[in-house]
Amino acid sequence: MNTDTPIAQPALDALRRPLRDLRISVMDRCNFRCPYCMPRERFHEHYPFLKTSERLDFTEILRLTRLFVPLGVRKLRITGGEPLLRVNLAELIGDLHGIDGIDDIALTTNGVLLSRYASELKAAGLSRVTVSLDSLDQDTFARMNGGMGRVTEVLEGIEHAQAAGLGPIKVNAVIQRGVNENGVIDLVERFRGTGVTVRFIEYMDVGNRNDWREQLVVPSRDLVEQIGARWPLHAVKPDYVGEVARRYAFDDGQGEVGFISSVTQPFCGACSRARLSSDGSLYTCLFAQTGTDLRGPLRSGASDAEMDTLLRGLWQARGDRYSEQRAVLRSRSDSQPKIEMNYIGG
Ligand code: GTP
Ligand code: 5AD
Ligand code: SF4
Ligand code: SF4
Repeated sequence: MNTDTPIAQPALDALRRPLRDLRISVMDRCNFRCPYCMPRERFHEHYPFLKTSERLDFTEILRLTRLFVPLGVRKLRITGGEPLLRVNLAELIGDLHGIDGIDDIALTTNGVLLSRYASELKAAGLSRVTVSLDSLDQDTFARMNGGMGRVTEVLEGIEHAQAAGLGPIKVNAVIQRGVNENGVIDLVERFRGTGVTVRFIEYMDVGNRNDWREQLVVPSRDLVEQIGARWPLHAVKPDYVGEVARRYAFDDGQGEVGFISSVTQPFCGACSRARLSSDGSLYTCLFAQTGTDLRGPLRSGASDAEMDTLLRGLWQARGDRYSEQRAVLRSRSDSQPKIEMNYIGG
């Protein structure tokens, strides 16, 4: 292998957006079956999940991450499927933590396995976790995750993560009209004053099989109003350029809530995220129809310089802004299937 060092010249895409954030899916399997992501009918026991040899191994993930740093990546997010199902994940985190230039490693999980792994992950160098939790009501929770796991397990996972120092912890809740919108106030009440920030995500048309309809989206502004009527809120400035969530603080100082409004207030203008699927393809948008295989070149001996040229070219050619063009793109009859969520983790 050629070890020539790529130049440290940050890349800008066709809309002059830098690359900052690499989201790495380490596992296409999940121990939940959320109907909006991995519906049970399709992801049954005979579903052809990736074979171990088809997933990027740790050496490959590390090499790619190192190659992304000169392009501008500073922040990593480990996703799935469910990333805690990946064997020896803490070992990978430890190695990623050792890469010069990476200053934040976060993980998105459904929380069920967090109690078991929180301390180990923290010790390895994980900075923080974000836990998906759509409802505190056990029946609604079960309906939204295909009948797996218990709310209490997720809450215990969050407590273990807090105790391990994996904060600031965020809880992500996808809100669907007529399904869990009634549980919004309960979620806010449960986490207000605990240091955990709840973020409400507008239901998105990710993938191809979640029967998305605009009527199922609860606009964030309705939730801001609903929550603000109970606990007065004021808007807070973004923490960084391109922050996905709009943040609001409680006037009484009991913390914050966030709103991720990809449908009603798209944030493509500052999107600095690239997504690496568990089988090693790179996607430059959550709604991309095609990715670029990186595993092939990695396994056939491409040099660092060749990989750098490939990655740089991909980012420079990027013009994605799906959420801003949703209406037009959805109406096109020639539209191709999009990448599924379990390969790129949201
Ligand atoms: P922080 O670093 O904690 O600010 O994380 P983040 O908000 O960038 O990432 P997180 O994974 O917590 O994002 C929460 C959810 O927002 C994801 O699960 C997606 O549903 C959605 N999301 C994140 N990034 C994008 C994006 O680039 N486009 C769209 N449309 N949605 C996104
Ligand atoms: N719309 C919005 N958010 C989604 N997620 C999964 N599918 C969707 C969707 N269709 C969220 C999960 C989790 C994160 C990985 O992405 O609930 O918080
Ligand atoms: Fe699993 Fe998350 Fe998809 Fe639910 S949304 S099936 S927890 S990967
Ligand atoms: Fe980025 Fe695509 Fe999401 Fe827009 S829709 S913010 S381009 S990932």
